[in-house]
Amino acid sequence: MEKIRVELAERSYDISIGSNILEGIGDNVKLFGLSPKIAIVSNPTVFSLYGEHLSASVKKAGFDLLTVTIPDGEEYKDLLWVEHIYDELLKHKLDRSSALIALGGGVIGDITGFAASTYMRGISCIQVPTTLLAQVDSSVGGKTGVNHKLGKNMIGTFWQPRLVWIDIATLKTLLRKELLAGLAEVIKYGIIYDEKLFEFLEFNRKKILNLDSNALTFIIKRSCEIKANVVSKDERESGLRSILNYGHTIGHAIETVTGYTRFLHGEAVAIGMCLEARLSRMLNLIDKGQVSKIKAVVDSYGLPSEMPADIDMNSILSSMQLDKKAVAGKLKFILPEKIGRVKIQKGITERSLRELFES
Ligand SMILES: NC(=O)c1ccc[n+]([C@@H]2O[C@H](COP(=O)([O-])OP(=O)(O)OC[C@H]3O[C@@H](n4cnc5c(N)ncnc54)[C@H](O)[C@@H]3O)[C@@H](O)[C@H]2O)c1
Repeated sequence: MEKIRVELAERSYDISIGSNILEGIGDNVKLFGLSPKIAIVSNPTVFSLYGEHLSASVKKAGFDLLTVTIPDGEEYKDLLWVEHIYDELLKHKLDRSSALIALGGGVIGDITGFAASTYMRGISCIQVPTTLLAQVDSSVGGKTGVNHKLGKNMIGTFWQPRLVWIDIATLKTLLRKELLAGLAEVIKYGIIYDEKLFEFLEFNRKKILNLDSNALTFIIKRSCEIKANVVSKDERESGLRSILNYGHTIGHAIETVTGYTRFLHGEAVAIGMCLEARLSRMLNLIDKGQVSKIKAVVDSYGLPSEMPADIDMNSILSSMQLDKKAVAGKLKFILPEKIGRVKIQKGITERSLRELFES
């Protein structure tokens, strides 16, 4: 099993990565000296696949286990379903030393983390991510949250997990489309931080898509290391952490304008990364060849790389002004200077963006 330490002083934690490791989790959670009452939060899709395994391990370690399920879908990541989680925890008398185990993708991870951070002023949370996106991104770093009718992820907290337990064997049941969406975030890590990871993605596509254990472990571990490194230096996104948003300013706008139904998050980010690389080229910050390489890798994984022609540019522009990351109407972008290095570029004007979208 591979282990990565996320260094955050008293909030430090381990990320464990392995194949078929769900049965080992109970003994590891036991090391935290928690109260015997513990809850798994999941959805019916994931729970039916892995719930039994996980529950058996947790019970075997001596815990009194409660299972809370919420329906499968982004539309249930809201305060109403957080309330449902609180109701169950209170009814079953989970206390301040209890823990929640999030078993699922990013939706389950985000809502469970949020519930854990607020229940009795904060209890422990253990992340067991089962999508590639959750394994390389959402389960690490401590951002939790739910959606509000006026905006995605608008209600949230920073709450670091006690442990992230990544079983790569769970990816075998994941839809191909979801796997590819997760790979978009892995490509992102290569572009923002690590040329070697990018090259690995370029030259090992077949192995990765065939879910070769070594290849998957390599890209997941490297992605987690990069995220852990960035988060350790800037837990609350006052600076460096924003580099993780490469591709996301345009990506989020595409998701919003298309009502979150047409593209998966990673697909929208893939388009965002390609367009933001072109923006970087427009501003003379990166070579043409590097921009083409970024697009070529995105294309090679069957991810979208162009803004669909039917998307209204004005809606995209106004949506970007609403982005949490826009400061006083001025847009900040994370732009690649070369594969493996980005810069934070402030003050991008609407004019440059119009030029980009028209090109
Ligand atoms: N907190 C953060 O830092 C952060 C970062 C990125 C994204 N997010 C959030 O993550 C969410 C998206 O996460 P996601 O892409 O994992 O989507 P998701 O959680 O909706 O999972 C996608 C689908 O796959 C199913 N699934 C999960 N694991 C499976 C498995 N092993 N086998 C078969 N099916 C499986 C789920 O039930 C769901 O239907 C969004 O809400 C986004 O806002 C959070």
